[in-house]
Amino acid sequence: AVAEKTIINDINKLRKEKNAVILAHYYQRGEIQDIADFIGDSLELARKAQQTDADIIVFAGVRFMAETAKILNPGKKVLHPNPESGCPMADMATYKGVLELKKQHPDAAVVSYVNTNVDVKAVSDIIVTSRNAVKVVRSLKEDKIIFVPDQFLGSYIAKQIPEKEFILWKGFCPPHFNLTPDQLLELKEKYKDAKIAVHPECNTETVKIADFVGSTSQIIEFATTCDSENVIIGTEVGLKHQLEKINPNKNYIFPVNADYCGTVHCCDMKKNTLDKIKEVLENENNEIILDEELMEKARKPLERMLNIV
Ligand code: 13P
Ligand code: SF4
Repeated sequence: AVAEKTIINDINKLRKEKNAVILAHYYQRGEIQDIADFIGDSLELARKAQQTDADIIVFAGVRFMAETAKILNPGKKVLHPNPESGCPMADMATYKGVLELKKQHPDAAVVSYVNTNVDVKAVSDIIVTSRNAVKVVRSLKEDKIIFVPDQFLGSYIAKQIPEKEFILWKGFCPPHFNLTPDQLLELKEKYKDAKIAVHPECNTETVKIADFVGSTSQIIEFATTCDSENVIIGTEVGLKHQLEKINPNKNYIFPVNADYCGTVHCCDMKKNTLDKIKEVLENENNEIILDEELMEKARKPLERMLNIV
């Protein structure tokens, strides 16, 4: 604990000296959430990155999130504490594959989840996050949508917008995919009054049994304010930290084994540590550097989204 306090003091000194801001996603380790200047879901974090007047952004999240901050702020230094922290789902979509689909369906709009790499964003018409996906897709004039890369978020949107035709990339989030409806229903047996809240990255069968579906922030809002004392949470276990901080009077139930990789635990999100945050603040290493042309192209669909919601 003494060592942790020293690191935190060093981080505080460095961020002040360098006019740096630390942005963190809800799936980060608790100790990182505690020192962040701002915590949010991916849409809130993108917006915060766009608005900040800091000179340096330290992005505690997976790489596509740090890339998004850089694309929106090409003039700023964006540091990623651990460059190994990627998103396996983002890596499932390829630039070439998207171009191929575009060729096959020239009348479709390419809608990419923010969980994509910069090259895929560059060939997209618009970006969405889990918070705004339905609203953004509904606002498009095209009747045909190529949705990349999350087939489950894609199916969830498709169900709400039956008038449009969807071509779904077959990507998925490994930790959310592994959460089965049975795991949640078993908990519901034990806590009969409980509400079930899940992320739309969960597979369709799991989403079907939920009382609430939303982004990480939306799940936090629902769980901390709904009228049941017990809430079963179908998303990454990092949320527990904020839930208990915001409303400690409720019982947040995460599926069994949630503390282990293989259930709803994103190993990549946990690769950032306080030590690494201090290190990048000190040395200004692990800077996000992207190809200028790709960045320019990727900014358009991102800004188009931010102008809608
Ligand atoms: P949110 O936009 O809900 O924060 O989700 C990001 C993410 O990677 C979920 O796995
Ligand atoms: Fe990617 Fe899933 Fe981890 Fe989110 S939880 S960063 S979608 S692997």
